[in-house]
Amino acid sequence: MNVLVIGGGGREHALVWKLKQSDLVNALLCAPGNAGIQEEATCFPVSPSDISGLLTLARERSVDMVVVGPEAPLVAGIIDRFAEAGIVAIGPTQSAARLEGSKAFAKEILKYSGAPTAEFEVFDEPGDALHALEGKAYPLVVKADGLAAGKGVLIVRDREEAEAAVRTIMVERAFGEAGSRIVLESFLEGEEASFIVLTDGETILPLASSQDHKRIHDGDQGPNTGGMGAYSPAPVVDEALHERIMKTVIEPVVETMNRRGTPFLGILYAGLMISDDIPYVLEFNVRMGDPETQPILFRMHGDLAETFNLLHYRQLHKARVSWPSDAALCVILASKGYPGIYEKGKVITGLEELTGRRDVKVFHAGTKKNAEGKIVTNGGRVLGVTALGPDLPTCREKAYLAVESIHFEGMVYRKDIGLRGIQRLSASQ
Ligand code: AMP
Ligand code: GLY
Repeated sequence: MNVLVIGGGGREHALVWKLKQSDLVNALLCAPGNAGIQEEATCFPVSPSDISGLLTLARERSVDMVVVGPEAPLVAGIIDRFAEAGIVAIGPTQSAARLEGSKAFAKEILKYSGAPTAEFEVFDEPGDALHALEGKAYPLVVKADGLAAGKGVLIVRDREEAEAAVRTIMVERAFGEAGSRIVLESFLEGEEASFIVLTDGETILPLASSQDHKRIHDGDQGPNTGGMGAYSPAPVVDEALHERIMKTVIEPVVETMNRRGTPFLGILYAGLMISDDIPYVLEFNVRMGDPETQPILFRMHGDLAETFNLLHYRQLHKARVSWPSDAALCVILASKGYPGIYEKGKVITGLEELTGRRDVKVFHAGTKKNAEGKIVTNGGRVLGVTALGPDLPTCREKAYLAVESIHFEGMVYRKDIGLRGIQRLSASQ
């Protein structure tokens, strides 16, 4: 098979790395890719938002299967376009991708499915939303309905902040069209976990659990980012909770999507808040997480290309993948200033020391080769240093040791990735 991966972040580097190991894959292509992906696949400068350009590329290169990394093309209907063209593309149709494309839609599906989620109200008019703020309990969560690159969720402490948030989203349209509708949601406390499954609408194949670290600073301080590190498995998701997530969230939601006539085929990611052992759904994504994909795939055994192919042909029950009882952890190295303004073009050194290791892999995100062939920074999240070990403390130590050999000007990273998981493990012993 010729396989095209769409995207250019750390998640896509991990997908490319894993797909490359498959005997079924002949040529591996990526659009647009990055400096790390370039080492493992042929990259083409086509943007993930240019669906027509991607179709042309896929036809020209006789692509047999397309794997879509980011959400925007899925929500824009890329899967439907490729299906019309007769090319296998992994992911939900546009109508099923609304689970991520509209938070109000996701909440309706959750409510209908009886899945645990925070109390909510949806508004189309700023006046109505402002009026509803009267008598609300604080903190309160104010969410833009549509895609906002992870920035459309504002947690407010009082009514004044809530009014400002409604205005920012609905009147000033800080997140554009995403803010034409708003969701007000009660604030939940607990521990977050990412629960990602593959499904063909019938069989549900849960991937290993994981935990992201969304805030920029240690101790979960500062603004939200795309994710500053992740590990897998997440000790908070023990066997009983895993079962509860499948029974109360994933299975009913997949069933509801079938019943509506919009079956969900692809990757379904539930962002959960675990509170008193109840898995409340904060959001759905219809793609792999970034950086969760890096540790999940680094420790996965099995053929990813075969698994995706089975998913597409609704034969997922035949998939043979497993996660032996080891752990993996990924530390994101970012550019100073991220998630705000940052500089690009800083030369990265020390990568070669880590190549060829079986237990450590540096997945590239915002990197490119400059005119002199040097690898330089090209984004907010730059690298994901990922290590495998028999347990969480060991892979954590390995990952941070590897981080020490890498340098670029303005490199920042969290020092506490995995600590919460380790604390939970020692508390349960
Ligand atoms: P979302 O994009 O909906 O997952 O929201 C982004 C982040 O905001 C989540 O990962 C949580 O950290 C936080 N968040 C979202 N909804 C809630 C909620 N109802 N209660 C507490 N925190 C929330
Ligand atoms: N790491 C969070 C996400 O991929 O949405």
